[in-house]
Amino acid sequence: MQRLNKPDLLSARKRTKNQVNTIEYENFKNIKDIGKDRSYIIQTHGCQANEADTEVIRGLLEDQGFTPVSVLEEADLVVINTCAIRENAENKVFGELGRLKSFKRLNPNMIIAIAGCMPQEEAVVEKIMKKYSHVDIVFGTHNVNKFIEYLDYVIREKKQLIEVYSKEGEIIEHLPQVRQNRFKAWVNIMFGCDEFCTYCIVPYTRGKERSRNKEYIIEEIKDLIKDGYKEVTLLGQNVNSYGLDFVEEKYDFADLLEDLAKLDIPRIKFTTSHPKDFSDSLIDVIAKYPNIMPFIHLPVQSGSNEILKRMNRKYTKEEYLALVNRIYNRIPHVSLTTDIIVGFPGESENDFEETLDLVRKSRFEGAYTFIYSPRKGTPAASYKDTVDPEVAKQRLYKLNDLINEGFLAGNKRFENKVVKVLVEGYSKTNKGVLSGYTENNKLVNFKGPESLIGKIIDIHIEKAKTWSLDGEVVQ
Ligand code: SAH
Ligand code: SF4
Ligand code: F3S
Repeated sequence: MQRLNKPDLLSARKRTKNQVNTIEYENFKNIKDIGKDRSYIIQTHGCQANEADTEVIRGLLEDQGFTPVSVLEEADLVVINTCAIRENAENKVFGELGRLKSFKRLNPNMIIAIAGCMPQEEAVVEKIMKKYSHVDIVFGTHNVNKFIEYLDYVIREKKQLIEVYSKEGEIIEHLPQVRQNRFKAWVNIMFGCDEFCTYCIVPYTRGKERSRNKEYIIEEIKDLIKDGYKEVTLLGQNVNSYGLDFVEEKYDFADLLEDLAKLDIPRIKFTTSHPKDFSDSLIDVIAKYPNIMPFIHLPVQSGSNEILKRMNRKYTKEEYLALVNRIYNRIPHVSLTTDIIVGFPGESENDFEETLDLVRKSRFEGAYTFIYSPRKGTPAASYKDTVDPEVAKQRLYKLNDLINEGFLAGNKRFENKVVKVLVEGYSKTNKGVLSGYTENNKLVNFKGPESLIGKIIDIHIEKAKTWSLDGEVVQ
């Protein structure tokens, strides 16, 4: 029989006050070596939460003997870890599924699995059932730990398996992981989101906001230090509300960041910060510790109070600007970046001008900008006063011009200065040129020997371009 458990957005919306469970991962003792003589490839879409999940999926697979390959056609197992944030992200995945159909004709034993946020949506699962019968496994964000069991079932039974849970979720510790990078690591400090911004699907796809116990986080980072890692990025949809869900303990993001900064890790970053929970004690901690990077991604979404209210963002333009000023006053060398949506329902020319005004005043050094994309099941999807797509596009172009000015200005301030760079490897576009990121998260290209990879070194910046800096190693 086909195994089938479909998502349901109404259950995904529910939030209780119940304490979440922390569970230790258990190996599948009776499933062994199912990956022997099988290769795999994973495509990852979306945010760092998915990047981190992909590292767990790799860990699960390699424990079973699967070997990675880099070409789709050669893989016996293809996993697509999907993102549901905007329609075009989803269209890409459906396009890829179409392409995979012909590969599967050539290699009928190929197993295709869809993971991540898309399976958490009802409409996506219906569509896969109707049109994409060549997909073997569909599972969601709440049951990554069960993937091996699903694979074993599909290999034995040769039937489609759809297993998606719509629930608040728990925390699973000590999952196996194969990390992608040898020097920089993602570390989840929390999962889920309770903000329910009216445009956003994430609270439905990722469940309730739940914080990991600090002991587990500290243990993970100590292990990373032992393994020679130089940088950790703490992950959460809203890291500033870390710990607010603890029932007995009073321990928040500022406390965690301070405890982590005392460990021997050269660089700590974090993402994403919600402006509404950005406390002054957090600003103080960032200012105090040199190993907390002076780089803050602080999504604003809009500069219009009316639109912010309809987005359920819980702050005003004035409050946001006041926060930005507090940050600049305490951490003058900081770099701020943001996310902005244009064309949200009801956005007038005047609302858009407010956004441009906020961008100018905030001195952002970069931004991800998006045209609003309605997501089925979210409140904003039913708002009637939609913006003409052509108007939204023009607004995006205008906004991007302004953002790019800020990007260049942010890079220019490092010209003729010496900066610290964590060297990542050879530049993708120009072999022979090394590249890495500064403490302010600026991309730097320079010439140097391979032995510098993985080290933090001093670079003199010769020239600032819009997207990167050119420099020379300080001898
Ligand atoms: N939790 C993070 C980011 C989540 S998604 C935060 O709150 O900042 C990343 C970005 O995608 C969001 O900041 C938002 O700008 C954008 N986004 C989310 N839903 C969207 C939608 N329906 N249409 C267009 N952009 C969207
Ligand atoms: Fe989405 Fe808002 Fe949560 Fe970010 S804070 S994930 S935008 S609901
Ligand atoms: Fe996309 Fe899911 Fe992240 S919808 S942005 S992958 S949480």
